[in-house]
Amino acid sequence: MLKKLFGRTPKTYQVHVEPFGTTITVGSKETLLQAALRTGLAYPYECQTGACSTCKTQLVSGNIKALSDFAYVLELEEIQNGTILACQSLARSDLAVRVETLDDGLPPIRPQRSTGHISAVAQLTSDIIEVCVNVDVAMDYYAGQYAKLAVPGIAESRSYSFASAPNTGGTRDLSFHIRLLPNGEVSAWFADSDRVGTELEIEGPFGVFRLHESAAPILCIAGGSGMAPIKALLEHGAVSDTQRPVVYLYGARTQADLYDKQLSENLIAAWPTTMRFVPVLSEEPENSDWAGARGLVTDFIATVDDFGLPGCQAYLCGPPGMIDAALTVLNHAGVRGRDIYFDKFMDRSHSP
Ligand code: FES
Repeated sequence: MLKKLFGRTPKTYQVHVEPFGTTITVGSKETLLQAALRTGLAYPYECQTGACSTCKTQLVSGNIKALSDFAYVLELEEIQNGTILACQSLARSDLAVRVETLDDGLPPIRPQRSTGHISAVAQLTSDIIEVCVNVDVAMDYYAGQYAKLAVPGIAESRSYSFASAPNTGGTRDLSFHIRLLPNGEVSAWFADSDRVGTELEIEGPFGVFRLHESAAPILCIAGGSGMAPIKALLEHGAVSDTQRPVVYLYGARTQADLYDKQLSENLIAAWPTTMRFVPVLSEEPENSDWAGARGLVTDFIATVDDFGLPGCQAYLCGPPGMIDAALTVLNHAGVRGRDIYFDKFMDRSHSP
């Protein structure tokens, strides 16, 4: 009627969003994700550019206009079944949607801001440090999620995965693995002086990377500080008495870039069933004493014969090149897209 009378469509639409059980108002020029975040929903997102699929959403009813081709990150079957990307969708009618990535029935955790103090800093590898932060108010999060840390004097906050499983009822002692880069602002800030005791602003949790309920064997693939969320996932799985075999392929450049052996030994000792940890070095000098695997970590996916790859769930965390290569190999090996979960360290996320 309005259209007939005034010759233009209404400027806003009502969008019912499950599992939040709420209806939000969406302007015709804002994406579903922008409207959800403006309304304060803990909607999952990362890149906001249609590249990561974190904001995957089931369109239950109504019409949208896509701002980019969903086929870059969604499978054809998903698109045919009505999956859309909230960050790339404009409402063109009232809608009903369901957030796909919260499909395990876990309630989303609304991000909170908190103040904390750095309680410890430790060197973990040649270029990765552990930063422990004690926050004033206990933080809830799922293992695999991340937080944004605002470092004093540095304009933009940085995103880092929680490196340990959360405590039931909230966690006050948080830890993060920060990769230091030669020209990184955060790296320089830590190098400048002893930062223990410094106050930080912290906001989280964000992201949807987490361990999914299943009986399937688990294949973890991580590179560099991608160790942090995988470590948190595995610690959480151990506490939850997860009876699933694990193979964990970890890629680094040289022996100096490997975490202390104790870390993987602790993960293996805590895991309720079998876990095999395979460090793979890509730039270790030929004549060194390294007797382990050499090459790209993704070269070793096809060698995993602990269980059938097509029936496993894969959890990937690391730089985009590693993730993209792993996705290709996993697809060839018959691992279904829906069984692959990844946390791609994009742009400024997870970087100094
Ligand atoms: S947040 Fe929408 S695709 Fe990344």
